[in-house]
Amino acid sequence: MSSAALALEGVAGKFAAEAIRQDGQGDRNGAITSYQRAIDALIKLIQLFPDNTLNAVYEQHCEQYKKRINELQLSPDSYHTQNDNDHANASIRANANQTTNSNLENMVIKEKPNVNWKEVIGLEDVKTALRESIVYPAKKPELFTLGWPRGILLYGPPGCGKTMLAAATASEINGYFINVDAASMMSKWLGDAEKNVSQLFHMARDSSKKENVPVIMLIDEVDSLLGNSQNENGGEIRVKNQFLTEMDGVNDKGKNLQTYVIAATNKPWKLDWAFLRRFSKRIYIPLPSLETRVSLFSSYLSKLKKDSSVDASQLAQLIDGYSASDIRDICQSVQLSVIDEFFSLAESNGNKDLSHVQLRDVTMDDFKKTIKKRRPSVNAGMIQEYSNWTKDFSAT
Ligand SMILES: Nc1ncnc2c1ncn2[C@@H]1O[C@H](COP(=O)(O)OP(=O)(O)O)[C@@H](O)[C@H]1O
Ligand SMILES: [Mg+2]
Repeated sequence: MSSAALALEGVAGKFAAEAIRQDGQGDRNGAITSYQRAIDALIKLIQLFPDNTLNAVYEQHCEQYKKRINELQLSPDSYHTQNDNDHANASIRANANQTTNSNLENMVIKEKPNVNWKEVIGLEDVKTALRESIVYPAKKPELFTLGWPRGILLYGPPGCGKTMLAAATASEINGYFINVDAASMMSKWLGDAEKNVSQLFHMARDSSKKENVPVIMLIDEVDSLLGNSQNENGGEIRVKNQFLTEMDGVNDKGKNLQTYVIAATNKPWKLDWAFLRRFSKRIYIPLPSLETRVSLFSSYLSKLKKDSSVDASQLAQLIDGYSASDIRDICQSVQLSVIDEFFSLAESNGNKDLSHVQLRDVTMDDFKKTIKKRRPSVNAGMIQEYSNWTKDFSAT
């Protein structure tokens, strides 16, 4: 979750806690105002971050608060007895708890992914490392009489293929892919983070045992499990310890358990040694090389209607320092701009029948304009930090 989303979530949480406190003390007007503020913050959060996995949970909470506001507005008289208030509060809290388990399950995506190994462009060394540590043991566990590592850390700048690689690995071994966002798991809206962690590992072990298939669990943004020093409190330490215990369980299981944990992070330096020790493979996923950028462009260009000026190698040279997903976004945004033109042209001609209007070819100039407007999402300072960390901690 982005820091802006986290901040807004914090605001909503503060108002909700305040509302429940006021409600308990019989401060009806105060409670109504605070519930409403919590709702406003949650709605803003949903609107600003429509892809947030927690949105369904926020919506449930909004509904609960709205219901409570209605009750408070409709029956002011019954409000005076403290017992009633306790009752109402308990019901809001109970509702929140009741939904917790299913919330976690809804948020966790368990699937047989359809991302293919070959669709991940470049990163050949990384694929080899993943083959050795996951694909071979999953296919022939009996060869690995000394066991094999279950924890793998993928680290590096955002948008370079960490999630994609983990999904492709699961599909290569025909296993389940469980994708969790650690930042969301830490959200108080999902209840007790420590329980979420153990429930998650339970879910992975269960699926693997029951259906006798390997399971790859990707824990994205894993650094958020460790909290940040600014608001380090007992809760975060407990979550981390629970996680380490679960990892030990996975690592100790010998060849009978086909569960692999891939942790991904953009900020490996936030991880401590206790954590790193459980992830005996630590693999850097770098920005795409020149060669990989050429392949990425070729792959996206093959789906564009373009003129002969458009050249993948030239484009690749223009955008040193950009990530794979930056490249995808650039190609997409170039396509959008000619589609925009197409529709404005159709409109200005008063042409209702679009079959006579031609979509024009994309040109090299279109690309240059788009690239000029877009900075790479990673800067040189960050790349230096990755490379320093790699010197000290990588293990492939
Ligand atoms: N190596 C790659 N090959 C092809 N596409 C990629 C690659 N890396 C990233 N992408 C594109 O960028 C998107 C985001 O990549 P993702 O795997 O989520 O990055 P990360 O997990 O490192 O932040 C992918 O869905 C894909 O479209
Ligand atoms: Mg990712």
